[in-house]
Amino acid sequence: MGDILFSSSLLCVGVSALVAVCVYRTSESRNLNHIPSVGSFGPLGSYWTAIKSLTNSPKIVQEGYNKYKAAAFKIPNLGHWVVVLNRDHVDDIIRASDKELSFHAAIDDYVRPVYTFGRQIIDDAYHYSIMKSQLTHNLSAVVPDVADEIVAALDETLDLTENEWKCVPVLKTVEKVVCRAGNRAFVGYPLCRDSDWIELNMQLTNAIIKEGFILSLFPKFMLPLAARFATKTTNRVKHGARHLSPIITERLKRMEEYGEKWNDKPDDFLQWCLDEGKETSADLLAARMLAINFAATHTTSNTFAQTLYCLAANPQYIQPLREEVQTIVGKDGWTKEALAKLRKVESFLKEAQRFEGNASLGIKRRALKDITLSDGTFVPKGTYICVASHAIHHDPRIYEDPDTFDPYRYMKLQEKQGDSSRYQLVAVNPESLMFGIGKAVCPGRFFAAMMLKLMFAHIILSYDLKLGDISYSASVGIGPAIVANSSAKVMLRRRSDE
Ligand code: HEM
Repeated sequence: MGDILFSSSLLCVGVSALVAVCVYRTSESRNLNHIPSVGSFGPLGSYWTAIKSLTNSPKIVQEGYNKYKAAAFKIPNLGHWVVVLNRDHVDDIIRASDKELSFHAAIDDYVRPVYTFGRQIIDDAYHYSIMKSQLTHNLSAVVPDVADEIVAALDETLDLTENEWKCVPVLKTVEKVVCRAGNRAFVGYPLCRDSDWIELNMQLTNAIIKEGFILSLFPKFMLPLAARFATKTTNRVKHGARHLSPIITERLKRMEEYGEKWNDKPDDFLQWCLDEGKETSADLLAARMLAINFAATHTTSNTFAQTLYCLAANPQYIQPLREEVQTIVGKDGWTKEALAKLRKVESFLKEAQRFEGNASLGIKRRALKDITLSDGTFVPKGTYICVASHAIHHDPRIYEDPDTFDPYRYMKLQEKQGDSSRYQLVAVNPESLMFGIGKAVCPGRFFAAMMLKLMFAHIILSYDLKLGDISYSASVGIGPAIVANSSAKVMLRRRSDE
């Protein structure tokens, strides 16, 4: 009965939302009249462009980027217009305060994090500062454990016998490895190997995006009620808490017992949260760990799946990369210092990120005030803005021969221009927007880069890989996002002369 009631209210809300959106978009369009648009014209035409954007966003954005050069333009999506900015506007985004251009206000519409993660996690997001400080500064301590987890996770997930070539789905395979590797640093061993915990975290992204979409159909005042039916937040948190509870109890006991003298105290995110002393509830800590996994797992898996596919499609680079890893890791072991010296590996990873990309429209923000950009473009309060990331990453005025995959591109740029930091994997600037930029720049990027390098170097060293009989595109566009193609497969074989 409850379900029937919910379905019929969902239908009513859906229809009302559609009407409200039409009215909102028409009035919003008038406020943005001074900004040129891309695609078909008129109210119906703009909906047609919005529908085409669901599968063809990179092409539509590119059309605007080519036509309007450095100027802003707007494109419609189903709910509202998006003002698309160029490289020259990125400094305006960097300078703007959170009260002017907000990342959280922009994603609130898609994810409704207060309801999908829990209000306390959002109101006191102290885990962000742990990401920026402990997680980033403790990489040296974390590297050996994460490396160990990657080896074990790949072994188990691939399950290869001697000399066997196996055709594996790239994304599905790497998702499990990334989730285990990340969780080695988030919750430690042995929970990072618990299949139920890993499954919970791997399914998280799809579940939250789906729930966020349903909630986005409801007006704000109905959200608390709608969330009770449309989200499984409480179940997820309780599920996670069942795993964490005994670990937390044990750790609190030891903290009490040994205090500062706890010698083998775990170096993981859960422990850093406990050290913060703000919360000990298994429910709250589970919700926080789920929020961290949401930010970390899907993003890193997609990037790594794209990279691995690029390597299988360009096998001539395997040997030189292998020689680099053999020389450096052979001498320094799996350490942070060794990872910093893997210049070919780093350049390959960054080029794969540039070439494939993660968004045709990146750097999502919402204007919380009227603002005027430095080129005089007026952006009224409430407007959604984005940057044409993929088009910038493929602009011949910025990157020589941008549509060629050149794995040593960033290494060569570094050698030519002598600026070692500008071309690092973690570097962000108006030409390198894969990790975002400004106030919301990805705080997990140092950890992500470490995981990517470890996984890539380990695969190069221990596995042979090639494309199978069928070739795929490495990535697909879903609305403004670019993600790894979940159908893509590669052939892998364990190397015997390791
Ligand atoms: C290759 C992997 C990753 C990519 C490509 C990536 C990319 C991004 C991007 C594009 C943003 C939005 C930035 C903006 O709009 O300016 C972001 C935000 C964020 N990322 Fe990542 N990310 C990755 C891995 C991670 C990892 C491993 C973590 C955590 C350990 C993480 C935590 C976060 C968080 C918490 C935010 C939100 C920041 C805020 O609200 O201010 N990310 N990431």
